[in-house]
Amino acid sequence: MTVLILGATSPIARAIAREYAMRGNPIALAARDVAEVARHASDITIRYGVKARGYAFDALEYDRHRETVAEAARDLGPIEVGVIAFGDLGDWQRSVTDPTAARAVLETNFVGAASTAEALAQHMAPRRSGTIVGLSSVAGERGRYSNYFYGSSKGAFSLYLQGLRARLYHEGVHVLTVKPGLIDTPMTWGLRRGRIPIASPESLARAITRGVERRRDVIYHPWFWKWVMGLLRAVPESRWKRIKI
Ligand SMILES: NC(=O)c1ccc[n+]([C@@H]2O[C@H](COP(=O)([O-])OP(=O)(O)OC[C@H]3O[C@@H](n4cnc5c(N)ncnc54)[C@H](OP(=O)(O)O)[C@@H]3O)[C@@H](O)[C@H]2O)c1
Repeated sequence: MTVLILGATSPIARAIAREYAMRGNPIALAARDVAEVARHASDITIRYGVKARGYAFDALEYDRHRETVAEAARDLGPIEVGVIAFGDLGDWQRSVTDPTAARAVLETNFVGAASTAEALAQHMAPRRSGTIVGLSSVAGERGRYSNYFYGSSKGAFSLYLQGLRARLYHEGVHVLTVKPGLIDTPMTWGLRRGRIPIASPESLARAITRGVERRRDVIYHPWFWKWVMGLLRAVPESRWKRIKI
């Protein structure tokens, strides 16, 4: 079962790759840094004895998305699991004053992610088989004082995945939306606050492989974020707008 990971250089993507390789699956790693994914692919092959290859991929090069999926499938076999792992947190204060910075966040996390998902859907639907995994975020569940650019792009991506899931249900392809809370990666280095528990990329990777196996529609990781977000969504707007988080 070939697994293609798009945006394969992040710690979460690497953990997902290792988790699937450990189970004997061929791994296709696609990212902007081709040299880095080539190194990672060799490492996977040496450690786990599975086929692994690196591919050039940029979320903003829409015209190349289908080609990347097709190339990986030609080399390693039909893609059974496609993981949309890339993301851009951005610097929200800069986004407020610099439309180009805001656009990069919105475009990468939503337009690039949706284009990539459509490329995977086109590949999987004719075989009526496969799972598309989209890494969204709990940040997409409520707009907040800081970084609503990132939050709104992830919120839009979650909504998009919900529609895609409904469409592809009739075409034999499954869609899993993943909503992580705080995961220990460079993305969250500046965000760690006191007592909020932080999960490892490895634990998230295990939750994702389980979610794919059980054909879950949406997973939160760690699980308690589902209830935290339920509470936060229940705060009335008149109060919410006063909170600077
Ligand atoms: N960490 C968390 O707490 C957390 C929480 C919720 C959701 N998530 C989501 O989980 C995913 C992985 O997060 P992470 O924390 O592991 O991320 P990260 O360490 O910040 O890495 C971001 C990744 O996205 C890639 N990327 C950015 N723009 C790209 C583009 N235009 N084309 C291709 N790749 C691009 C980067 O590639 P380069 O190496 O080329 O820069 C890098 O591999 C993201 O979607 C993120 O939004 C993370």
